[in-house]
Amino acid sequence: MEPVLHSEKFDSKCMEHLLRERRKQMNTGAYTMLEIFAKALQTGGKVQVISKGSRQQETSAADENLLTSKQGSGNCQEIPVEPGYYRWLRVPVEKDTEYEILCEACRISLCYLSGCENILETGVCYLEQEKESGRFVKGRQKEQYDSPVREAYHFSPWKNWLNDPNGLCWFQGYYHLFYQCNPHSQQWSQMYWGHAASKDLIHWVHLPVVLEPQEEILKNPEKLKGGAFSGSAVVQGDEAVFFLTRSIGPHIDSQETLQQQWMTKSGDMLEFAEEKLVIDRPPQGASFDFRDPKVVKAEGKWYMVLGSALEGKAAVLLYESEDLEHWNYTGPLLVEQEDGIRCIECPDFMELDGKALVIGALMHHHDFQGRYQMCRYYTGEFQNGVFTEENRGWFDFGSNCYAMQSFEHQGRRISIGWISDFYEEHLELEQGACGSMTIPREMHIQGNRLYLTPIKETESLKAEGLYKGHGENVCLKEIHPNAYKAELEFEDNVPFSLQLGGDAKRKILLIHDELGLRLQTKGVKSEPVLFPAEVDKVEKLEIFTDRRTVEVYVNDGEAVGTKLFYDIKDSGCFILHAETPACVKNVEIFRMKSIWE
Ligand code: FRU
Repeated sequence: MEPVLHSEKFDSKCMEHLLRERRKQMNTGAYTMLEIFAKALQTGGKVQVISKGSRQQETSAADENLLTSKQGSGNCQEIPVEPGYYRWLRVPVEKDTEYEILCEACRISLCYLSGCENILETGVCYLEQEKESGRFVKGRQKEQYDSPVREAYHFSPWKNWLNDPNGLCWFQGYYHLFYQCNPHSQQWSQMYWGHAASKDLIHWVHLPVVLEPQEEILKNPEKLKGGAFSGSAVVQGDEAVFFLTRSIGPHIDSQETLQQQWMTKSGDMLEFAEEKLVIDRPPQGASFDFRDPKVVKAEGKWYMVLGSALEGKAAVLLYESEDLEHWNYTGPLLVEQEDGIRCIECPDFMELDGKALVIGALMHHHDFQGRYQMCRYYTGEFQNGVFTEENRGWFDFGSNCYAMQSFEHQGRRISIGWISDFYEEHLELEQGACGSMTIPREMHIQGNRLYLTPIKETESLKAEGLYKGHGENVCLKEIHPNAYKAELEFEDNVPFSLQLGGDAKRKILLIHDELGLRLQTKGVKSEPVLFPAEVDKVEKLEIFTDRRTVEVYVNDGEAVGTKLFYDIKDSGCFILHAETPACVKNVEIFRMKSIWE
């Protein structure tokens, strides 16, 4: 036996134990606020936030979790929590101080540290409850996202539910992404606005929750549903002005459902002014579905578009304003004549490349392929406040992309869509999230057709090459982790089949044959549905596979399809079988980096 080796072993074991123990402590570091969403399980529930004293010495490790403290005075803040609903507690804390959080007879759905000076850089610090000890410790981002059913490079929340992107804008050096969220579970429920910021539209930091549902709703969850519904932002000088819908009504939407448009402002994207009501009821003839204000400038004037239905037909309603506060209804911007659509949700409207573009999410719509709730775009002219449609198409042929929103920055028009689980395929794993965002897409109109390309910043995500070749079929199995980008070029419109995930029983495929190009799944719930792209030929593909999400861009943006495909194993595949391999002009596959490491 070699004594040196033995003592090394002993030391490292001891060290490990020490580190594990220290990790259990929670030091506030630069943060000054603790935000907790807590619900009592019975009367008498409470949360205690106990100060254990200030930081005394630092270990050499860069990890904030490894800070030690002297046992301090034990100053305790005790907050009673009511049963029935999640209260948003904000507890001031001292910097660089050890704390212990105790909860008695209550459940905590989300907990994080906020209120540090450079929070737009650092983001919040999530705290998670350890299973064995019940202690709150700092969450580890890499581990949180390291799951086969969580995207590695598409934005998704720390945990729980996300839907529509809201308030997209660039403000004082950062891109801001607000989003519909339910911080308490992986299902849609009463709506909050979540928030994230980024310098490159690729890497995001999570920021504090911004808006919560109306108190009346929170206190009467059995009777009421609603909350802070979708909306948009415009930047005016040194302020961002936000518009949103506040919805309140019974669980089954009806005439009693009230959807009103509100505005708020922020000068730093952290504090928000008191909300102001700007439109209190739908115009004559419009349905109670009356929501999702998108404010834009067109023909040099402020307009707001709202999703609704007019006399039973899905419609986009148009309002105008001089000052962003007083809004006048000018009439419908567009009335969709197709039947079977309850209303348009999350409309978008813009001038782009010399044309006008309207986009709407079609609520409850089924197309003849069986696709559910697609987003449709309409191109045309907008003159003197009137839109004339010239062409229409699908925003995304995969139909797992809904409620897209766009914004403009430095001459680029960029959109982000919600990757929506419309075929109910979500696997609810602990610490998981349901809902994520598409890669930001640059938008253009050419010949009255919408083109969407992944923003060029996605290039920075490429890691090592996994394959490069041409004139042959390709079979890569066990791509680990399952996060890659494939770039392909074809000749002579060659037929092919390309497996992008799964195994012998469950598959996601991109097929090109006499029926055209389409996404198709096998062995999962979306199998009966076809997801065809509206293209005549296939020359070029860019495919982003990111664990449960696949995004396919065709012919430099002529079409894009987003499809969810859940697989519990974390290795992917890329199996290309072209009828004439000689027509495979080029294939390059790159591993993609995670944005959370
Ligand atoms: C679309 C939508 C919006 C609404 C929001 C509520 O997904 O239904 O119309 O504002 O989600 O979360």
